[in-house]
Amino acid sequence: MEMTLRSIADLVAGAGIRAARETGNEPEPALTQPADWPIQCTVGPGLEGAIACESRVGYVNGSKGWLVYRGYDIFELCARADYDEVCWLLLHGVLPNRRELAGFRQKIAAYRHVPGTLRLLMGFPVEKMAPMAALRLGTNLMRQEFTFCDIDPDDGENRRNAEEAGTDWVSLDDDSIAMETPPLGGARAVYEFSPVASSPRMPGSDLQSADGLEACYHLIAGIPTMAAAISRIRRGLMPIDPDPQLSLSANFLYMLTGRRPTELETRIMDICFILHADHGMNASTFACLVVASTLSDLYFSIGAGIGALNGPLHGGANEQVLYMLEDARQSVNVSQFVHDKLQKKEKVVGFGHRVYRAYDPRARVLAPLARLLSQNHAEGQSLFATAEQLEVEMVSRLGETKKIFPNVDFYSGIVYRCLGIPTDLFTCVFAASRVAGWTARTLEYLANNRIFRPRALYIGDFGRTYVPVDER
Ligand SMILES: CC(C)(COP(=O)(O)OP(=O)(O)OC[C@H]1O[C@@H](n2cnc3c(N)ncnc32)[C@H](O)[C@@H]1OP(=O)(O)O)[C@@H](O)C(=O)NCCC(=O)NCCS
Repeated sequence: MEMTLRSIADLVAGAGIRAARETGNEPEPALTQPADWPIQCTVGPGLEGAIACESRVGYVNGSKGWLVYRGYDIFELCARADYDEVCWLLLHGVLPNRRELAGFRQKIAAYRHVPGTLRLLMGFPVEKMAPMAALRLGTNLMRQEFTFCDIDPDDGENRRNAEEAGTDWVSLDDDSIAMETPPLGGARAVYEFSPVASSPRMPGSDLQSADGLEACYHLIAGIPTMAAAISRIRRGLMPIDPDPQLSLSANFLYMLTGRRPTELETRIMDICFILHADHGMNASTFACLVVASTLSDLYFSIGAGIGALNGPLHGGANEQVLYMLEDARQSVNVSQFVHDKLQKKEKVVGFGHRVYRAYDPRARVLAPLARLLSQNHAEGQSLFATAEQLEVEMVSRLGETKKIFPNVDFYSGIVYRCLGIPTDLFTCVFAASRVAGWTARTLEYLANNRIFRPRALYIGDFGRTYVPVDER
């Protein structure tokens, strides 16, 4: 099939029709109504089954394989919306009108310019750090944007204004190490390293606080910039300034590769970003909420989400899948490869899900997208052929019995590989899009905040007597 915008739209629509035919879409009555707190539910280890809060952001029906953002079916959004619109939708609950969308695009174009944060981040050995570790660090450093100087430090009037506003002036030369300052209130330090000419902060896009909507926009815009910069630094290249004319997904590819993506590449990246933008009360989202519930700020919350996403049982699986596919295609045959893994009681990455007992709707889109893209990519083609065989093997062995099917991470890596994204950046790409859901849910939770405090069952001893160290 020739790859065109039309063929991509058809492919997404086809995936939606198949999903509706095979599983049907129906909300579960018990899980889609406001609760009369406190409620009773059956809780398993890892809080399985526990209900943490009410939310209007998104819905996952695991038995039907159905994913909804703010009432819109995921297939509909993938077929018709772009990621910028979906970010607004997740945060505001409605699709933006033309004026709102234009204003949002202008704002995130300004916010994705984070030279001060990058300057701080580059003070660390980014090239030697795991990309997700660098991204988590960079996200926490983004809090410092509240204290960055956006004015010419040699301009006496600006300096006087800052001083009159009660702002401490801390001048840092190129080799200085950044200082931590409280993000809100009190005396603030002002750093000088923001290159004024290339830092076009728009009027009206000033960060007001570290826990409001502006900070959400800032994180949605800034995290992709950092992910792209981290990848370039690791490859010995300088970060590229964002292009304000491009959408979030197109600009991400541009900052990563240095080449403005084609319309088709942009569309595919958009779909990937949309598919990864939100997914119920998963481990990383919960981590964000737990941190936010202490009234820490959004930067710390999202940093916690990045930390949780990193694990191979969660977002880290997408990178592991690619390594596994590379191994599998070297093996004598894929059937034996799967057999050996299952014999050894190893998990096959990219399969299974805590919630889905049906085919993951995101994999329904990513699989044909990977097939389409890999037609023109020799390596992608061989990876896709291996992935298809692996899916057949896994589903025939565990589909019926354990309800194990490919998850979102199984095919996303092949798509990313075909788009020229380095494998070690895959989990950062996941984070760069999931930040939309993280921020939307965190903001929603804060509107009705209650600090998280589950309990542990103490099953240890009582009554032991302290024995001095020399007598043990
Ligand atoms: C996602 C995941 C953590 C969900 O875990 P879970 O709901 O707690 O399920 P469990 O780990 O308890 O597995 C239930 C059963 O299915 C099996 N199983 C689950 N995922 C499997 C996989 N990927 N490969 C092989 N067997 C798997 C388990 O071995 C277990 O079998 P058992 O009942 O005989 O012991 C799990 O499926 C997994 O580790 N998948 C691989 C990592 C991955 O792709 N993560 C990305 C998720 S989007």
